[in-house]
Amino acid sequence: MPQGLDVGTMNLLSARQDGNETVFVQQRNSFVEIDYSDMAEQMLSRSDVLHIRKDDRVYIVGDDALNFANIFSEETRRPMQAGILSSDEQSAIPMIKLITEQVVGQPEFPNERLFFSVPADPIDADVSTLYHQKTIESLLTDMGYSPEPINEGMAVIYSELANREFTGLGISFGAGMTNVCLSYYAVPVMKFSIARGGDWIDEQAAQATGTPVDKVTSVKEEDFALNFETDVGGIEGALSIYYDNLLDYVIENIISEVDEEDVEEGLDVPVVVTGGTSSPDGFEELFAERINESEIPFSISDVRQAENPLYSVAQGALVAARSEEEREGQNEQAEESDTTAE
Ligand SMILES: Nc1ncnc2c1ncn2[C@@H]1O[C@H](COP(=O)(O)OP(=O)(O)O)[C@@H](O)[C@H]1O
Ligand SMILES: [Mg+2]
Repeated sequence: MPQGLDVGTMNLLSARQDGNETVFVQQRNSFVEIDYSDMAEQMLSRSDVLHIRKDDRVYIVGDDALNFANIFSEETRRPMQAGILSSDEQSAIPMIKLITEQVVGQPEFPNERLFFSVPADPIDADVSTLYHQKTIESLLTDMGYSPEPINEGMAVIYSELANREFTGLGISFGAGMTNVCLSYYAVPVMKFSIARGGDWIDEQAAQATGTPVDKVTSVKEEDFALNFETDVGGIEGALSIYYDNLLDYVIENIISEVDEEDVEEGLDVPVVVTGGTSSPDGFEELFAERINESEIPFSISDVRQAENPLYSVAQGALVAARSEEEREGQNEQAEESDTTAE
């Protein structure tokens, strides 16, 4: 059975079909490095914490990293930054490899197909996604998979717009990036990313209010809503300002990236928003309001949020992998019947 994998700055998620159900496995894309000690040894031997030991250092990866960081007063680190492998983190590749192995597991058979998400090149940062893509690809090949990249925005179209003939605008608001894709009948006509997302909102709001970033992130994830109540000077007020700013920035860039020739006249397209950053109450309404009052060069039928904002990219990668497999199956059958006909 094929698999889908969402490779995100904050979360790695796999999706696999099990009968009628889709099973997701998720880990934080994060790790912590601590000194090896008797206490560390005891804590590690008691549980199934994902870790590796290297001489007198221990690396704990995934969801447990944060707990260990708190207990041992260390900071968590991340293999990725702004949507791609971090060039400032020497341990990025071995760490993301461990987390990926845990999330995707062993292939069920050699060269099992696996589609993994990759961002489009960002239009506002001078980085290429190629090195990131090729590195992830070779890690997955080493694990015994047959990997194939799929654009993250296109994965959103696959998971959310199957009943709209894979036509629409898909936007994934992640931690490190925002990915945008416009597709007509499963053909992407525009795709790009911007190097801003939830992390950017957190950093800006932290700076503006003089609050530690982690504090801002927890306020945002716990009970923050994008309503019209004002909280002048507070953390929530600052979060609202930067949310607003991010939405306008995304819409502005859609307008400047869309080529009018690519737009199908007379077709109203649906818009789907997803990703962890789209979670707060009021996000969907705010985005709908902003895009409807903008000068966007195509007409929009409706704006909605994905049912599971954290799962839709992995789900879409799985849908793409399965449809590729079906297509191949059909080709093989066609070839066989050609041979019989001869
Ligand atoms: N309930 C929530 N409210 C607001 N933001 C959230 C919530 N849950 C997660 N996030 C934010 O979503 C981002 C992670 O989303 P995700 O789609 O997994 O990103 P990535 O694909 O980049 O790893 C982080 O910035 C996180 O703070
Ligand atoms: Mg993601």
